[in-house]
Amino acid sequence: MRNIIDEKYIRLCFQLAKKGEGFVSPNPFVGCVIVKEGKILSAGIHEKYGALHAERNAILNSTEDFFGATLYCNLEPCMHTDKQTPPCVPLIISSGIKRVVISTVDVNPKVKGKGIQQLREAGIDVTTSVLEDEGNELNKFYFKTQKCGIPYITLKIATSKDGSITEEEGKQTWLTGIESKKFVHKLRFSYDAVLIGANTVNIDNPQLTVREVEGRNPKRIIIDGKLSSKLESKVFNDSEAETFVYCSDKAESSLKKSFGEKNIRVIEVETDYDMQIKLEDVIKNLVVHKINSVLVEGGKHIFEQFFNSNLFDELIHLQSPAILKNGLRVVDTSIFSNLELIKKISLGSDFMLHYKNLRSKCLQA
Ligand SMILES: NC(=O)c1ccc[n+]([C@@H]2O[C@H](COP(=O)([O-])OP(=O)(O)OC[C@H]3O[C@@H](n4cnc5c(N)ncnc54)[C@H](OP(=O)(O)O)[C@@H]3O)[C@@H](O)[C@H]2O)c1
Ligand SMILES: [Zn+2]
Repeated sequence: MRNIIDEKYIRLCFQLAKKGEGFVSPNPFVGCVIVKEGKILSAGIHEKYGALHAERNAILNSTEDFFGATLYCNLEPCMHTDKQTPPCVPLIISSGIKRVVISTVDVNPKVKGKGIQQLREAGIDVTTSVLEDEGNELNKFYFKTQKCGIPYITLKIATSKDGSITEEEGKQTWLTGIESKKFVHKLRFSYDAVLIGANTVNIDNPQLTVREVEGRNPKRIIIDGKLSSKLESKVFNDSEAETFVYCSDKAESSLKKSFGEKNIRVIEVETDYDMQIKLEDVIKNLVVHKINSVLVEGGKHIFEQFFNSNLFDELIHLQSPAILKNGLRVVDTSIFSNLELIKKISLGSDFMLHYKNLRSKCLQA
């Protein structure tokens, strides 16, 4: 049965947890409040990766007496010890808290119900699954990586009204307006990394930063089997964000050396002599670099590989009113029939259509 009071405080935990956006990854977003007799005694946030957990902050940042209180937390408290910060469950137990309410179980195999079990064994009343769908949405990046061994992947495609991504091959066409640009920069802020292909580097020479909003820039990932990107491109020469280039182990050594001399992380991937990198090899490797979420921004060849492999979770389609009769098309519209439209809004004279891929692929059970 729904408990409106529990939902109210779990919603507050979601709001607090979101303050960690841009800082906590690859950890989950976590917020916590401690309540007694209808009064909030304390609150805590997991502020950044490596910092104390929200429950620990809530308990230690207050001198209130928590005996008999209820602790609300959007994620199951942790009990494992092989990490940088101490576990939360023993502290909750020793604080005198008598009830714990959570939204989602932590899918990390080291926790996964064990935190709840230890709390119950200590005589604490535990309520789970409060606003679970919202809790899952909040931590979708973390849950995807934990469950599938690959980051959460969103494709962001701008097209003309008639479905072209650019006026002609090899040419940059600015399709959308300033409202869409701001929207994209905000979106970039919420992702750990942005990914593009070598031709987009060469043709568009993008910065892939969040200039229109305040916040940290995402990491930049370039897929470039032959290392054909121009070294003078902005992504290789500004120091706005860390840049990773994935190339074939068969790429020319002199090129590898030139890229390596810049402040770029060159990651070699084993390929055949065609120097085509398997997408799976790149995205599995991103997790090693603590990247839980990726915004894929093109171009055509990159989008097609994600569509063909079904290795994406969401699609954000920015549709401009422009008509480009003979432009470069990226997909036939049949792809959209496999996706669920969850939102459509106007951004100036553009539309933003947001889809979920209900059949996105996982690489590990
Ligand atoms: N409207 C939009 O949303 C949007 C967004 C971005 C770009 N664009 C447009 O798209 C066009 C570029 O599209 P595109 O298809 O030519 O370029 P792209 O997808 O950006 O890059 C393709 C190139 O990247 C390298 N690459 C990609 N996947 C690889 C893999 N698995 N293994 C090894 N290398 C790989 C290859 O370089 P090599 O050929 O050197 O091996 C390949 O030719 C431009 O006109 C740009 O303006 C539009
Ligand atoms: Zn914890």
